[in-house]
Amino acid sequence: MNWLTTALSSSVGQKFVMGLTGLFLCVFLVIHLSGNLLLYVGPEAYDQYAHFLHSQKGFLAFSQVLLYGAFFLHIYLAFKLSATNVTSRFKSYKMKASKRDDRMVAALVAPEAWMFRSGAIVLLFLIVHLSDFKFEIGWDILESESSPYAKAGIILRDVWRAVIYILGSLVLGVHVSHGFASAFQSLGVNHPKYTPCIKWCSIAFGWIVAIGFASFPIIWALTDSPAAP
Ligand code: HEM
Repeated sequence: MNWLTTALSSSVGQKFVMGLTGLFLCVFLVIHLSGNLLLYVGPEAYDQYAHFLHSQKGFLAFSQVLLYGAFFLHIYLAFKLSATNVTSRFKSYKMKASKRDDRMVAALVAPEAWMFRSGAIVLLFLIVHLSDFKFEIGWDILESESSPYAKAGIILRDVWRAVIYILGSLVLGVHVSHGFASAFQSLGVNHPKYTPCIKWCSIAFGWIVAIGFASFPIIWALTDSPAAP
């Protein structure tokens, strides 16, 4: 843990940890999306997968500690780094007012500012998602339902939830389509030969994540069930 404290004491180290946790969360997204794609296979496959996961108590507890630790560090550093960026941009109070205005506009449209805003929206989306699927807050109707497939159907067929899940997935796609490539830069992977390819992969990954997650409420709104007949 000493390396973590050392890393967190400098802004280069903070960016490194931000990149590392970001890539870890991208791996989680791939696993989570792959698991959810079983919704297209059918209720038996999805329920079997969900029940199997819940039966692996030790593995689940370990991966949850890693996952929530990564989320916490990533969000904490996002706030810390963007606060540092804002103060360093406006540090020189002797600066001319016009120059300060220019810097203000530049700060508002900078990619990091968009990353912060999209990240904040993804965090709100995640809070709604956990309250629905993990804690089932406000879903008394789910108490009598034991099938995870049926539960997902009840939640995602709610009109407001469908809107939130579609918009949340799209914003998540925008966030990772820049964030994935940016993480490599933060980890020091910057090469004229590989960087353009990483940027394209990042955009493709963003689209896959956005379309993949948004597809579930969309298909559920259009058909009785996402599973192929
Ligand atoms: C429509 C798409 C999605 C569906 C159907 C879905 C489904 C689920 C289900 C069934 C669970 C398990 C709840 C439980 O039994 O404990 C879950 C947990 C979770 N989901 Fe999603 N999810 C979706 C999108 C997302 C997205 C886009 C993210 C990331 C931003 C995400 C992050 C999480 C996290 C962090 C957990 C908690 C994991 C844990 O504590 O074990 N999910 N989701």
